[in-house]
Amino acid sequence: MKLHIAVLPGDGIGPEVIAQGVKALKAIAMEFGHVFTFEYGLVGGTAIDAVGNPLPESTLELCKKADTILFGAIGDPKYNMDPDSKIRPEQGLLNLRKSLDLFANIRPVIAYEDLLNKSSLKKKFIKDADFVIYRELTGGIYFGDKIISEDGNYASDSCGYHRFEIERIAHLAFKAAQSRKHKLTLVDKANVLESSRLWRKVLMELAPQYPDVNLDFLFIDNAAKQLVMNPKQFDVILTENMFGDILSEEASVIVGSVGLLASASIGPKYAMFEPIHGAYSKATDKGIANPIASILSAAMLLDHFALFEEAALIRKAIDKSIKLHITTPDLNMKYDNISTSKVGDFIEDFINNPEETNLNFTNIHLGQSTII
Ligand code: IPM
Ligand code: MG
Repeated sequence: MKLHIAVLPGDGIGPEVIAQGVKALKAIAMEFGHVFTFEYGLVGGTAIDAVGNPLPESTLELCKKADTILFGAIGDPKYNMDPDSKIRPEQGLLNLRKSLDLFANIRPVIAYEDLLNKSSLKKKFIKDADFVIYRELTGGIYFGDKIISEDGNYASDSCGYHRFEIERIAHLAFKAAQSRKHKLTLVDKANVLESSRLWRKVLMELAPQYPDVNLDFLFIDNAAKQLVMNPKQFDVILTENMFGDILSEEASVIVGSVGLLASASIGPKYAMFEPIHGAYSKATDKGIANPIASILSAAMLLDHFALFEEAALIRKAIDKSIKLHITTPDLNMKYDNISTSKVGDFIEDFINNPEETNLNFTNIHLGQSTII
């Protein structure tokens, strides 16, 4: 298959982690005889620094003409401490999502058996947790009217949803549940918010079309608790934009590191693949950023184009890296000096030599003797 991929490294650790995602895709292309070409674009704080715009027109054009998009990370702390700043890195990502109509953000959460000890939650509650969050991505409070009064003493953001915005992602979530454990949980705040009541109403109306899906409802406050108390009860979680942002970050506690969670942002025409984590600026260029979320995003990209065998091989490589403790310090329980690119090298090597022995991999990637 030929794929022209727009690569948007973004800010902070974005460039380091995305380089590993690209490395994995190149290895897959070589192994399976695909032709993947990569074209880079500016976005976020780096784009502001370079051209004064977090989403330059050229980047948007690149994304539109490419077959798909791999995204790194966004954000720069210097803007966070300047509430008056009119221009912000995050606008790059938000405008991209909106301009490309990427309304469904799919965030799978699977607890790795070998990392159960890394979670601050008790093993017995998280073992076998396996669910997916369908987060609405182009509506709600993120994109509602924003007001700041003239005197600067009042501000508001409004949360609104049209029926069609709820319906289109609800259909995807129902279908996902049909292909999984047949359970769909809508997370909302319908006891307080009018917009949540519309979500509930629409979901109840659609439910008869999916008789094999067990639909239930949770308020966000309760869901936030249930997610860490008993994550195994979930299969598909559907929720609006901001609740999904918060819940998915919370879900990273289950897997042991936010550096493990990837996502697909899907629209009618375009698709973008992005880690759920931010730019983690403190870690920039230190080689400590976990590249797995970016590499998993690459696997989700392959799934999107029905390259299932290829995606499975990436996941197998990730499993192996975790098993052999070839991981960055956020996860490593054995070695303290495995860098971002080292993890990427391991994944690449595994893709090229999936039948290699554990011993060989350990020797090679820990810089020990390669002769066994
Ligand atoms: C995410 C991020 C973004 C969001 C930020 C960087 C704008 O937190 O993708 O979860 O809030 O959507
Ligand atoms: Mg987030």
